[in-house]
Amino acid sequence: MRIGVTNQKGGAGKTTTTLNVAGALNQLGNDVLVIDLDPQGHATEGLGCEDLYDDRERDSLFDVLPDLDRMDDLDQLIIEHDEVDAVPSHEKMINAEDALANVMKREERLDMLLEETDQDYDYVLVDCPPNLGVLTDNAIVATGNVLIPAQAKTTSIRAIKLLFKQLRSIESAFGDVDELALVANEVEVDGEADEMMDWFRNVFEDKDGCEVFEVRKRVALQRAWNNGVSIFEHEEESDMEDVYLDVARHLEAFGDE
Ligand SMILES: Nc1ncnc2c1ncn2[C@@H]1O[C@H](COP(=O)(O)OP(=O)(O)OP(=O)(O)O)[C@@H](O)[C@H]1O
Ligand SMILES: [Mg+2]
Repeated sequence: MRIGVTNQKGGAGKTTTTLNVAGALNQLGNDVLVIDLDPQGHATEGLGCEDLYDDRERDSLFDVLPDLDRMDDLDQLIIEHDEVDAVPSHEKMINAEDALANVMKREERLDMLLEETDQDYDYVLVDCPPNLGVLTDNAIVATGNVLIPAQAKTTSIRAIKLLFKQLRSIESAFGDVDELALVANEVEVDGEADEMMDWFRNVFEDKDGCEVFEVRKRVALQRAWNNGVSIFEHEEESDMEDVYLDVARHLEAFGDE
């Protein structure tokens, strides 16, 4: 099952959600590949691979995505990590949108790469950049499934409405896109968060099989990222482990339908 973790709003919790849902899926015995499609490389850093991010000798998605002759080269970019395998980002990725601007099938390149991989994963999670550009389009086309993290703040509403427009437009050109779940992130205990949780439930629980989850603000999540591991491999115990396990079980159930 392939899943794009997306919300073009910066700081919505995409990377935190990607790494911890990946960690939870691994805890449940799944083989997981995390693809860091964000030129900022935060997932790469959160996997403890920052040395790969600025290694000029290393090929990355920047070299492969725009080149039709390299559509079976994804395996060369995969690295093995303790909890999951990963395709790290690279500082060169900052130029990937430009490199893809004028190529054929520019939104379908990640899909083509995943079709050709020899590796066999139960789940592929793609951490998207904070914009609705061609990289995010690649993630959505390749996965056909999205997990949407969002802060429980009123400023998230417009971002989600715009994202829905983008999903429907991709759907009309490339086929079905399912919203799997909304992961409210950094939820605080206040009136605005309560109102937003209601809004999320109204909007997302109307969609077939889609569920809303609630991740609270916890420094342990920040510290796990600093240590290059998910909350599950981090030494601190956290009550958010159960929430990420619930998300992972929901994805398993969705996939079984
Ligand atoms: N539930 C949480 N509790 C505490 N800190 C959090 C939580 N979720 C995210 N953070 C922190 O907030 C910051 C932004 O989160 P994150 O990087 O996951 O968002 P993002 O959507 O991936 O951001 P970007 O748009 O830059 O890619 C990070 O420093 C992260 O460690
Ligand atoms: Mg991020």
